[in-house]
Amino acid sequence: MQQHTHTDINLSELINKPLEESRQGEALAELPLETATIVNGRHFYIESYGCQMNFNDSEIVASILATEGYSLTNNYENADLILLNTCSIREKAEERVRSRLKTLTQMKRKKPQTLIGILGCMAERLKKSLLEQEQIVDIVIGPDSYRSLPALIAEAEGGQKAVNVLLSREETYADVNPVRLDSNGVSAFVSIMRGCDNMCSFCVVPFTRGRERSRSAYSIVAEAQNLFDRGYREVTLLGQNVDSYKWQHPETEQTTTFAQLLEMVAQISPLLRVRFSTSHPKDMTNDVLHTMAKYRNICKYIHLPVQSGSSRVLQQMNRTYDRQWYIGRIEAIRQILPGCGISTDIIAGFCTETDDDHAETLSMMEYVHYDMAYMFAYSERPGTLAARRYPDDVPDEIKNRRLQQIIALQNQHSLLRNQADVGKVFTVLVEKNSKRSDKDLCGRTDQNKMVVFPRGQYQPGDYVEVLIESCTSASLKGKALGYTYP
Ligand code: SAH
Ligand code: SF4
Ligand code: F3S
Repeated sequence: MQQHTHTDINLSELINKPLEESRQGEALAELPLETATIVNGRHFYIESYGCQMNFNDSEIVASILATEGYSLTNNYENADLILLNTCSIREKAEERVRSRLKTLTQMKRKKPQTLIGILGCMAERLKKSLLEQEQIVDIVIGPDSYRSLPALIAEAEGGQKAVNVLLSREETYADVNPVRLDSNGVSAFVSIMRGCDNMCSFCVVPFTRGRERSRSAYSIVAEAQNLFDRGYREVTLLGQNVDSYKWQHPETEQTTTFAQLLEMVAQISPLLRVRFSTSHPKDMTNDVLHTMAKYRNICKYIHLPVQSGSSRVLQQMNRTYDRQWYIGRIEAIRQILPGCGISTDIIAGFCTETDDDHAETLSMMEYVHYDMAYMFAYSERPGTLAARRYPDDVPDEIKNRRLQQIIALQNQHSLLRNQADVGKVFTVLVEKNSKRSDKDLCGRTDQNKMVVFPRGQYQPGDYVEVLIESCTSASLKGKALGYTYP
């Protein structure tokens, strides 16, 4: 493995200098959840919806509350403070939170002193009006305001409803070391940026998350190093568009690109796997692909949301690439990273989508043969460009029929892709017991495919060579041949 870097950032200096704040956060994170330090005797419960970034935000919130002396509980009935970290991406995501609030209403009747806080994207989108719509809510707090949560709690305890939905151009929570929630102790998320400047016409994220900003490369590497030192073996670098990561060193004014950041994280240890999400087809550079090729520990897997296979629809979505450009990116991946796993996101039934546009989406799927896809029916979001400009004119019935076709085709492709792996040997990073049986372990290949195999002598965190013997469209099954690193 080659070991040079394009930046002036001295890695060894970083490695010896963990985040100041991390020491505090780390100590709390290591304690059993139910019995974390009782400094103020109060417990909080947190539930997360939406994307990985939102889950990671909950870990930041947990860290902020832990330093305030709060303990975490996994049972909301024991909590003094119940937090829902919400998502607004589709109407259904919001409906789930509304129905969760109904359940909590009954609980609050029995325990009226319990405070209820709405965090995240719904809080940001609906702001104060959420307090009027949902009587039981005491606190509404947007994604850039989590540092003010203790103050808002104090306000709510005094009987006032408390709101902070200010968005920021600077906040990255760079110095907050997240408390890992629901962790397998092997893989963790690390947010490298916040917000989004892309304005895809269907998408609410730029409104709920604000302007794009990149977190200090130093703090990202320090966090990843800290995770590695604590036994973690995989980090996933998160951003709405990781390819537009750009951080300027405050003194030298040198900028770090995503390709450079990837390299810095990969250099922490060959035993630390590095993943990232999400790549944007318009911004994904060959530099990133070459960096991936150079390091064995950067996983050969790219999530490259296409959204639609029709150039006309892509233009209307304001994705700023067309079908040909996307195909060019796929060709570059195939050429620079043979065998790289590729997954995508697809929206069915966007405004004005015709049968021909839909057929182009299916043909794009045939062209790529994605390993995996997240597939959605278009859901109009208030305030977005599409909601203001275009009628949501594809009837639900047609949207759903198209979505079902997309799902059926993807199931075929996932199965074909998995069948092609049968008989091959893959390096698997063991994550945990298999859901079905604790006689089996599971973990993922470099290409992000889940593999189940009999436990033998192996443990979570081990790298194991596994021979694939069978598959479904969802996962691979095999037998362990031995440790990857003897
Ligand atoms: N930043 C990522 C996407 C984040 S949102 C990117 O640009 O690829 C995750 C996915 O939700 C999107 O890729 C899109 O497929 C889907 N999505 C977003 N808004 C939607 C909407 N209004 N209706 C249906 N699906 C939507
Ligand atoms: Fe939304 Fe587009 Fe930004 Fe992704 S890139 S978060 S789809 S606006
Ligand atoms: Fe949802 Fe907000 Fe993520 S809308 S998908 S939680 S950025």
